[in-house]
Amino acid sequence: MTTHTRTEARPNARQEELWNGPIGRHWAEQQDRYDAMSGDLNDRLFAAARISGGARVLDIGCGAGTVTRIAARLAGPDGHAVGVDISAPLLERARARTATEAVTNVSYERGDAQTHDFPDGGFDVAISRGGVMFFADHAAAFGNVARALRPGGRLVFVCPQPASPDIEESRALGLLAGLLGAEGAAPSSDHTDARAAMASLSDPAHIRRSLAAYAEVAVTSLPVETYWGRDPSDAIDFLLSRTPGRVVPRVTRKALEDALSPYAGGRGVRMQARVWLVTAVRPS
Ligand SMILES: C[S@@+](CC[C@H](N)C(=O)[O-])C[C@H]1O[C@@H](n2cnc3c(N)ncnc32)[C@H](O)[C@@H]1O
Repeated sequence: MTTHTRTEARPNARQEELWNGPIGRHWAEQQDRYDAMSGDLNDRLFAAARISGGARVLDIGCGAGTVTRIAARLAGPDGHAVGVDISAPLLERARARTATEAVTNVSYERGDAQTHDFPDGGFDVAISRGGVMFFADHAAAFGNVARALRPGGRLVFVCPQPASPDIEESRALGLLAGLLGAEGAAPSSDHTDARAAMASLSDPAHIRRSLAAYAEVAVTSLPVETYWGRDPSDAIDFLLSRTPGRVVPRVTRKALEDALSPYAGGRGVRMQARVWLVTAVRPS
């Protein structure tokens, strides 16, 4: 008889804990800000996904479902979109927004996309805006998604590139982390673990190895602009709100805002960044 340990049954238990804890709740509460931050990715993601009327779309790690609902609208009344996510607070938010926006051809399932029991060949397209990095075993997760795609079905996702000094966003966030670190505020283990997972799919060679079940794999560098707030003060309020109850001395606060002032303009605080756009096809 085979016995399964808790870890085997729930390979992503730590991420499940994080996305159902303060990090997931912060994403749910700040959905509009996180959407604005990643909004620049939407057009490029959907241009690559080429969703047409009648399509059956799977959104992996759908969060509050903004991208799922765009996909549902593109699929039209004869198609539908399903968002899968491990986070209860984010799915609650997704369902509330779906009701407000009266989108009727979308549904959400709570589950770990690495192990979730998707219908075999049930989808024409699988998409993700930054929801595919958090798997303990990327190859297993993308293999599970491949089974959910029909032969010839497409996988399209965006994920972060490695931090680099020649990327504006990396430099700015590095500076902010240094200022907070100097003040003695070490990041929590939750944030450290979430950040490590966020970066775990940034090596293009690893992306390609993880997509062994697919054909026509393409990994393209995409320059994007990320939005952080109306002005430096608003952006710092948002960044500090990720750690509930955190207060920094006035002098540190001023230094943090000064660090963001080079990126502030008429359209708010915006930074150049780079992501990978990945496309692949389930072989026929
Ligand atoms: C960076 S957020 C992106 C959310 C959403 N795609 C968006 O663009 O707003 C990552 C999402 O992946 C989800 N996630 C993490 N691990 C997961 C897993 N194993 N299966 C399904 N979803 C997962 C998180 O709960 C979170 O909603």
